[in-house]
Amino acid sequence: MRTKRLNLRELNHADARRIALLAGDIDVARMTARLPHPYTEFDAEEWIRGIEANEFVRGIEYDNYLIGLIGYTIDANDRSAELGYWIGKPWWGQGFVTEAAEAVMRHAFKVARVPRMTCCHFIDNTASARVIEKLGFRCIGVNRAYCLARKAEVDTIVYERKRPMTAFLWRGAA
Ligand SMILES: CC(C)(COP(=O)(O)OP(=O)(O)OC[C@H]1O[C@@H](n2cnc3c(N)ncnc32)[C@H](O)[C@@H]1OP(=O)(O)O)[C@@H](O)C(=O)NCCC(=O)NCCS
Repeated sequence: MRTKRLNLRELNHADARRIALLAGDIDVARMTARLPHPYTEFDAEEWIRGIEANEFVRGIEYDNYLIGLIGYTIDANDRSAELGYWIGKPWWGQGFVTEAAEAVMRHAFKVARVPRMTCCHFIDNTASARVIEKLGFRCIGVNRAYCLARKAEVDTIVYERKRPMTAFLWRGAA
């Protein structure tokens, strides 16, 4: 999948080193639920190997460099898809995740035909709150989620976005 500036591509085991380097930054890991800290190349390899059929994961590539990850996981019960993402710190604040997420959401609604997407952010993650706002999600509640990197539960804001009625008219997958 391509966007204006990005290539969203499948991962392979050779990406583990770079993923470990970027996601090994505590400022990235502490804003995610599932990235432990420290995060090694072996952890990243295991994670890539363990990606399951209900997970759609893409590496975010800019200028031929992998700069982050984005994807969604489809819930077996209601087929809603939970969006997740991170990018390395040097690329923050340039609109990359919003751009990648627009393409991935389009894929979820148009290709996977999920009826609804969800996402969430820790209460202190103002940048992600802004991304989610730009993507058109609406807040549906507050929760607590365990953060592996912080080794603590953190208040979490939860959002949803329903599939637009016009999704079937969209051209292309992304
Ligand atoms: C959150 C994250 C994904 C954002 O990615 P990004 O590519 O920088 O996001 P974008 O540039 O598309 O948008 C960020 C927006 O937040 C705003 N922002 C950034 N830091 C902010 C802050 N401290 N307070 C308020 N707004 C902030 C930016 O100005 C921008 O909004 P704008 O377009 O209106 O100017 C990235 O910072 C990241 O990977 N963080 C660590 C991991 C993480 O948080 N993952 C998400 C878990 S929910």
